Amino acid sequence: MSVVPWTEKYAPRRISEIVKNTDAAMKLLKLVREWKPGSKGILLYGPPGTGKTVSVYAVANELGYEVIEMNASDTRNVRSVMRVAGSAAMQSSLFAKKGKIVLIDEIDGLSGKEDRGGLGAIIDVIKSSRFPVVLTANDPWDPRFASLRRYCELIEYKRLTMWDIVKVLRSICQKEGIIADAEILKEIAKNAEGDLRSAINDLQALAEGRKRLTKDMLSILARRDREKNVFEVLRMLFSAKTAKTATFALSTADVDYEMLMYWINENIPHHMEDVVELAKAYDALSRADVFLGRIKREQNWKLLPYALELMSAGVALARDKSKFRFVKYNFPTWLKEMKATKGKRDLQKSIGEKIKKRCHTSVVRAINEFLPFIRVIFKNNPEMGAKLAKWFRFNEEEIAFIVGTDKTSKEIIKLLK
Ligand SMILES: Nc1ncnc2c1ncn2[C@@H]1O[C@H](COP(=O)(O)OP(=O)(O)O)[C@@H](O)[C@H]1O
Ligand SMILES: [Mg+2]
Repeated sequence: MSVVPWTEKYAPRRISEIVKNTDAAMKLLKLVREWKPGSKGILLYGPPGTGKTVSVYAVANELGYEVIEMNASDTRNVRSVMRVAGSAAMQSSLFAKKGKIVLIDEIDGLSGKEDRGGLGAIIDVIKSSRFPVVLTANDPWDPRFASLRRYCELIEYKRLTMWDIVKVLRSICQKEGIIADAEILKEIAKNAEGDLRSAINDLQALAEGRKRLTKDMLSILARRDREKNVFEVLRMLFSAKTAKTATFALSTADVDYEMLMYWINENIPHHMEDVVELAKAYDALSRADVFLGRIKREQNWKLLPYALELMSAGVALARDKSKFRFVKYNFPTWLKEMKATKGKRDLQKSIGEKIKKRCHTSVVRAINEFLPFIRVIFKNNPEMGAKLAKWFRFNEEEIAFIVGTDKTSKEIIKLLK
């Protein structure tokens, strides 16, 4: 049996079930119902996990409409937008009696130089559509959306408060027969920073195999920041049953494909125990790597879909015997090591920048040719070092980095003061 994500299982099906943003959803319902050709598009905006996507489905459900969804990350060029949204939007099928909503989700996902083409195409779709076009975005005030905004009615979705979230979590626990301490639910809610989706996912991960959640489990709740998104992508990818869902998972990522590849690489063994599965998964991943390498070398972006398919569908569908489990994902080892030296590289660079300003040289020369001498002076003559540090405007961290020893750096810093 597969694990149904609770975000799906407990997603609101009706407008009245939407927490906090019921009014926004009501407004959407009204605009969709009153929409006629030539009307504006509808842009739902607000932080992630506040109910934008689910309200489109709830509204469609209430009206008996069909949702035709496309992911904005797929709208890489005009042609693909026209092919997918364009055709769906402009042709009313001969047989379908139902109304339709064209949903272009997460337009923030549009990136790179294709932006303009993609956004222009979206505007064309809005203008020519025979069905209401609904867009969602986290930040509609991004300057690149300026012209798009003129073709849209805007509806704001508000961040959920900690208490809104606790309420939802409590009701899920009740339905799942889980007894949970108030503290732990509060902590999950706090961590989520207004994002109900991530709160529900956390709850499900924490409740895996347990019927009782106590406050001493707080430590399991890892801090969620940027990695949050990666975790969700991995979860969706590894639980995918079809190639389509797996590739779709990738398109929701807000880190680049190379980075994702490290994450997938690191976490395959979490989901697959069988050697055949493992071999298949790593084979697909290594082929994706070959493609990505070629794409980068030759700037041959036409190959990208193959690479993406291999690293998503190729990996996900390798799992056949092993059951999907919610697991805690590991940070890629290789990246961890890079990160560890990043502080050092950053410091060196900021020192280089400061020398560059004073000595009118390049950062590279500053680091290679000036810094060694400065280091000698700092080490042997703290008074002179302090004067130099003042002139260069080095901060304490930089001084410590230059001299290397705690004692001398403290002396220089004292003299500096
Ligand atoms: N306002 C809300 N009311 C009820 N459930 C919500 C709400 N917002 C998010 N959720 C839950 O989180 C999941 C993701 O919500 P979604 O609509 O995709 O967020 P968004 O599109 O704003 O990022 C939903 O499936 C649902 O389980
Ligand atoms: Mg959404």
